[in-house]
Amino acid sequence: MAADPGAPARDGLDPELRARIAALSDEGWEIWERFDVDVRRNDWHPFVPADYERVLEALVAQRGPGLRFLEWGSATGVITIMADLLGYEAWGIELDPALVEVARGLASRYGSGARFAAGSFIPSGYRYRPADGDGRLGTIGDGASAYPELRHPLEDFDVVYAYPWGGEEAMMIDLMRAYGGRGARLLLHGGEGVRVYRDGRPVA
Ligand SMILES: C[S@@+](CC[C@H](N)C(=O)[O-])C[C@H]1O[C@@H](n2cnc3c(N)ncnc32)[C@H](O)[C@@H]1O
Repeated sequence: MAADPGAPARDGLDPELRARIAALSDEGWEIWERFDVDVRRNDWHPFVPADYERVLEALVAQRGPGLRFLEWGSATGVITIMADLLGYEAWGIELDPALVEVARGLASRYGSGARFAAGSFIPSGYRYRPADGDGRLGTIGDGASAYPELRHPLEDFDVVYAYPWGGEEAMMIDLMRAYGGRGARLLLHGGEGVRVYRDGRPVA
């Protein structure tokens, strides 16, 4: 869903910033519509966009001075750029290098300093070993870890966001518990909106 520039300022955002984010989100939807026709019609691809308005609300609620933000699977970069515009120091990691190029172009059009790396958000060395023994990763792809390119390990980030496909949440929570910084927040977007986890547990 696109951000509504006419929405009451319940989030306390400056109207100019809100309008900029609304334009970004609208352009994100246009890019997605073309991607859906040009790429997804021919071949399955794991990229589907989040409900940008709901993610915006969560990012506004979590923001604070000097926070480092990381998006796992940043696709066209809309959410990482949104985080940058909201004042986070923002990075995105995306496995598909063509999407990383799209995200960099979008960031430069919006005057955003958001940074993107092509590669995997899974640090080398991490293995998912759940108690039930089913360590399949679903749609999460394989690739070289992108953290060396970011020059920050996962533990350096205060807020990490992802939009997992159904069934992939547990792996992300486990990865954050194993490699995330203490007290860092994991924001997972799903059917019920955005849930926040801290140290492996949901935050009420
Ligand atoms: C469901 S989409 C979410 C897109 C975006 N984060 C959003 O919320 O609108 C998941 C994205 O993760 C990417 N992806 C899958 N496995 C990955 C991995 N191991 N490392 C980085 N990105 C990955 C996919 O290419 C896809 O763009």
